[in-house]
Amino acid sequence: MFKLSPSILSANFSNLGEDIKKVEVKGVDCLHIDVMDGHFVPNITIGAPVVKSIKKTTKLPLDVHIMVKEPEKFVDQFIEAGADMLTFHVEATKHPERLLRYIQSKGVKAGISLNPATDISTIKFLYGAFDLVLVMTVNPGFGGQKLISSVLDKVKELKKIKQEKKLDFIIELDGGVNEENIKSCTDAGAELIVAGNAIFGSADPLKAIQNLLAKGA
Ligand code: DX5
Ligand code: ZN
Repeated sequence: MFKLSPSILSANFSNLGEDIKKVEVKGVDCLHIDVMDGHFVPNITIGAPVVKSIKKTTKLPLDVHIMVKEPEKFVDQFIEAGADMLTFHVEATKHPERLLRYIQSKGVKAGISLNPATDISTIKFLYGAFDLVLVMTVNPGFGGQKLISSVLDKVKELKKIKQEKKLDFIIELDGGVNEENIKSCTDAGAELIVAGNAIFGSADPLKAIQNLLAKGA
């Protein structure tokens, strides 16, 4: 049974609290928050003060995805702001293992993310050190992009490794998911699916969630 993590990137930022309430429904496991620095990705979004405010408005666990260079400089502020899951990119730091262990030591679930072109071998020596892998199915930076379907092979590979090595981590998938392709994502092995535009870009986010859950099952 897969779960959804709606990405607020496509929400109405001037009415965020109200938009978040619309997705606090069954089948939604957490709230995906995209942090971008204009360096690691060509876009700037939100910072820790906004995460802190969101924490006060919702009971949903916060799934914070930081697309920033040198994430070690920023994790403390997101942990303090209330991140329940904190995911950074393997491409963005020289010492991912140290950072994963640090995040876990603070009682927060630690996630590692891979850009579409990044091979799974980059996390080969990190198994056991993370609670989730976030597989990017678009090049990070913007909502509403098209899912790169070849990346689903990476999800399949991860699922196989997880089973063979009897590992305990969540396979999360992020980027370009919609009603048409969500089944291919769950079939590949995605357990937690991020959806931004498909939910907040819809006139009826609740219906969009129900459709995604039905189509992906
Ligand atoms: C992209 C972000 C995604 C984005 C997904 O850089 O990491 O989380 O919000 O949005 P959609 O579902 O619109 O591709
Ligand atoms: Zn994201």
